[in-house]
This record gives sequence, structure tokens and C-alpha cells, in this order.
Amino acid sequence: MASTGTTPPGTSDEKQASRWVRQMFSEIAPKYDLLNHLLSFNIDRSWRKALLKRLRDVLAEPDARILDLCCGTGDVLLDLQHKAKSRVIGADFCHPMLVTAGKKAQERGFRAPLMEGDAMELPLANDSLDAISVAFGFRNLVNYDAALREFRRVLKPGGTLAILEFSHPPGVLMRTAYGFYSGVVLPAVGSLVSGSREAYAYLPESVRKFPKAEVLRDMMLSAGFEAARFDLLTGGIAALHSGVKSSRRV
Ligand SMILES: C[S@@+](CC[C@H](N)C(=O)[O-])C[C@H]1O[C@@H](n2cnc3c(N)ncnc32)[C@H](O)[C@@H]1O
Repeated sequence: MASTGTTPPGTSDEKQASRWVRQMFSEIAPKYDLLNHLLSFNIDRSWRKALLKRLRDVLAEPDARILDLCCGTGDVLLDLQHKAKSRVIGADFCHPMLVTAGKKAQERGFRAPLMEGDAMELPLANDSLDAISVAFGFRNLVNYDAALREFRRVLKPGGTLAILEFSHPPGVLMRTAYGFYSGVVLPAVGSLVSGSREAYAYLPESVRKFPKAEVLRDMMLSAGFEAARFDLLTGGIAALHSGVKSSRRV
């Protein structure tokens, strides 16, 4: 079922939902990396590679400015920095996630410019970025349409938006297997390891409620992105979306 933004349990407006999401990520931050790779059997690494490939051209431009939004503990950010000739900044509204990202960057010898800020209201000038990547963060935003319009505002005309997000497997077999995994296994293991039952009940539920890939593509088109397209990954468990900021007014 499509929704206009995430709706965590017990929240009734966008402000409450945003606070709930930030608090939840703060609680699971210390165990986030461990659980992420464990629960995805490391398949997430190939998904992140696909995202990097989609941004290959902009990464090769020495003067480009790229924002990895909802960067969390920095896995995509550090991969981008590793590949980029351009300048890559990470942003997230959850302080403990950024602290981990900063430590990981230091360990790998990178200087990671990190910005604490809300994706719904970016502290950036209009037309100032060449690309934005968002990996597994978009689903948690409180208003998808408003977020896309905010991303469009800060991108230069012709700038690229790439969103990697969970999706909905179209095939019955994959859908059933993944439904069991995300509805039963993931909440059980996630809550055991992280100590947060709420978080690992919310995460699969937010995937279930997230719009199908076709719907998100149409939202991107309506928000002023052209060439909006998506590729389903691993039978549709995830989808890689991208689009280019059009210069027409929306
Ligand atoms: C599932 S994690 C993904 C982290 C990272 N991109 C990755 O691929 O591992 C989602 C991240 O989105 C961040 N986030 C959610 N809503 C946000 C918002 N409104 N503004 C900024 N960051 C947000 C959370 O704090 C969290 O770090």
C-alpha cells in the first residue's frame, strides 16, 4: 500500500514521526552495522555497488559535489569517497550514527565531511549539488513527495538523484520467502541482538507500507525528475531508482 511518508506506531503527525525515527536510530546505532550485514547476508554490499555504478559519471567529475543523504554509519559514503574524484559530503539527522561514520572514516584514512541535518529541510543553497544518494533512508522520511521536492531544490539542473530502497518482489515465491523472513526472522534476530523489539518490528512494517517501485518512479516524475527509472535487485527485495533534475518548473 502506498503512503505519503513513514508512520511509526503511536505517532499522529510528521513531527512526532520524525522524532520517533531519530530516537529509534539512536538506540540501534551501536549494533546497526553488525545487524545490517548479518540480516542481509551481505547482499546489501552488491546493492550498494549498483548504486555506485549508477553514479559513476558524476563520481568521475573532479568539481562535482555529491551528498550522501541519510548516510547513517557511512557505508555508502565511504565507498563513494573511495571512488570519487569529486567532493562527497555525508548527512544524517541522527548524531550517534554520524559518530560511527566519523570513526569508520578515520580508521580508513578518509576525511569525511559530515553534516547533522534533516533531509526534509536541508541547510543547503538551491542548485548547489551535482548528485544525491540515499540508501535505505528514504523509506523513513515523513513525507516522500516533500522530500523529493527538497532534493530537487538543492540539486543543480541536470543533477542526479539515486535512491536505493527496499521494495516489493513481484514473483510469488520470492514474495512469500521474503515475507516470512522479514515478518518473522528479521524481527526476532533484530530485537534479540539490538535489544530493541520496537525498531525491528517497525523496519519490516515500514518496508511493507512503502510504495511499489512504479509508484516511487511516478512520484519522482511528478516532483520534477526526468528519466526516472528503477532496477529491481535480488528479485525485487530492493530497487535502485534514479532520475535527473529537469529544468522545467514544477
Ligand atoms: C537504514 S539507515 C541507512 C544508513 C545508510 N545509508 C546505509 O545504507 O547503511 C537510515 C538512516 O536514515 C537516517 N534518517 C532517517 N530520517 C532522516 C531524516 N529526516 N533526515 C536525515 N536522516 C534521516 C537515519 O538516522 C538513519 O541513519
